[in-house]
Amino acid sequence: MEKVIKEKSTNPIPVHVAIIMDGNGRWAKSRGLDRSEGHVKGVETVRTITETAAEIGVKYLTLYAFSTENWNRPSEEVMLLMKLIVKAIKKETPDLIRNNVRLKAIGDLDRLPVESRESLHESIRATSECTGLTLCLALSYSSRWEITEACRKLAALSKDRKLTPQEINDSTFEAHLNTNFMPDPDLLIRTGGDRRVSNFLLWQLAYAELYFTPIFWPDFTADHFKEAIKEFQSRERRFGLTSEQITQ
Ligand code: FPP
Repeated sequence: MEKVIKEKSTNPIPVHVAIIMDGNGRWAKSRGLDRSEGHVKGVETVRTITETAAEIGVKYLTLYAFSTENWNRPSEEVMLLMKLIVKAIKKETPDLIRNNVRLKAIGDLDRLPVESRESLHESIRATSECTGLTLCLALSYSSRWEITEACRKLAALSKDRKLTPQEINDSTFEAHLNTNFMPDPDLLIRTGGDRRVSNFLLWQLAYAELYFTPIFWPDFTADHFKEAIKEFQSRERRFGLTSEQITQ
């Protein structure tokens, strides 16, 4: 599979892959387990997919780990998810450094419990010099929140006469998004069978290729990931141009 990926020189490996990791609860339910078991198994998949992404040369991997809407889940599940995420980050930080992976986070991080936030920032600091894959966790994130925040910042700059309304364009807007340190995703993968983008990177996904799979996140393997990359490589990306313009 890897060979196929590398041989296709005309269609490069996507620089940025974003993933909506869905289906943990249903995976657990289908086995008569508690939903929490699905999240525990989901963390293992995060490890596998991060390793695989680094191995095949993806530069940015953004994972939707906790949405703004997830705060409305039962409080025990919210607490468990927070604990799991922070525990995994703490445990994996030495390995992230060894593998030259830089950790970043996007979202309303001020809403995270203090301990979780501090430990997240600690891992971000510890990996900040790494130059390989950037692993970006979307935590307490929603795209509408991010876009609204950007509007608020631009409005404040305009009010203070530091920016005129005419200076607001694609690039000044993007500069005020949480994702301003990385290029837009080339490929969005959603596991778990639903075919929607659910308030995730709405601005940034404008030209992304979308890949939906029924596989639940805990069952999603390195081979499934490579299959998605292969499918991406077979697509023609036109960015609003004609096919002829692209081939020229
Ligand atoms: C969606 O499944 C998944 C989540 C809300 C959480 C995903 C988080 C993890 C896999 C842990 C991430 C850990 C790190 C270290 C980033 P769901 O509960 O919505 O499943 P369902 O749709 O089947 O109910």
